[in-house]
Amino acid sequence: MKHFITLKDLPNFKAAVDLAKSLKQSPYEFEAQGKRKTLGLLFFNPSLRTRLSSQKAAQQLGFSTMVMNFSNEAWALEFEDGTQMRGIRSEHVREAAAVVSQYCDMVAIRAFASLTDKAQDEAEIVLNSFTKYADIPVINMESATGHPLQALADALTLEEHKTLHRPKVVLTWAPHPKALPHAVGNSFTKMMEYQDAEYVITNPEGYDLDKNITKGIPVIHNQEEALKGADFVYAKNWCSYSQYGQILRTDNAWTLTEEKMALTNNAKFMHCLPVRRNIVVTDGVLDSPNSLVIEQANNRTFAAQAVLKTLLDHA
Ligand code: CP
Repeated sequence: MKHFITLKDLPNFKAAVDLAKSLKQSPYEFEAQGKRKTLGLLFFNPSLRTRLSSQKAAQQLGFSTMVMNFSNEAWALEFEDGTQMRGIRSEHVREAAAVVSQYCDMVAIRAFASLTDKAQDEAEIVLNSFTKYADIPVINMESATGHPLQALADALTLEEHKTLHRPKVVLTWAPHPKALPHAVGNSFTKMMEYQDAEYVITNPEGYDLDKNITKGIPVIHNQEEALKGADFVYAKNWCSYSQYGQILRTDNAWTLTEEKMALTNNAKFMHCLPVRRNIVVTDGVLDSPNSLVIEQANNRTFAAQAVLKTLLDHA
């Protein structure tokens, strides 16, 4: 594995989940493997879980870490080639990526979708520029279109909590006051391709995810119908994909409530966090014993550690 940009980069998905599971039991087993290596973490957007869990994962493998917030600490980067750099962008990604490669052995990057220009977001300019101009492995810590570290952690959480051979897993859209990207829903859906499960997506009309990602998966526009018999319910907001970046509804009719969870097969509740209480999901669901959200966050460390170790193994 040269880079970790999507789940497809993993040489073997099941082996990666098994590795994450075993690292959770024995986090320091490979502490010597990253000794005298440095992981750079570059953030173009905020983070709590990804930032801390990736650092912890790296430290448990013996790495040193360097963290930089590009939103307020670094020179603003230019990504366009051949441009006269007269504006506020002081440094070209060609030099920045090459320079980071001198200090770091791997670089992890978070760069969200703008949600204003679908074509530009789908071109994944930040991540692709770094893979092009850095000569070290690049790790996706959530890009415009995907959040594979979250999806790998979610796979570990499903594995740990499933009691049926073939559970029903429902990804439900939920309301949110801000326009949010599609990355988590996209990667969770790609991850479900590796699961033996009945997988259903439910969202209001106008909120269907990219059909290239949901191809072959039932998309139901009636939330209560979709939730019936579910063993896992994963709630997440995303803005409209067809009317790119738009919020089409502001009501709370799709908030996940205790009454809706009563339609399920005593389902476990999942969310990647951060979550808006009593908008995305009620306190009662979030604070119930069936809520897995803290365990999902815990599993972020071991998912990241599995990815770092796999990159080291294939260096
Ligand atoms: N789930 C997740 O990626 O959390 P952060 O945005 O806090 O990193």
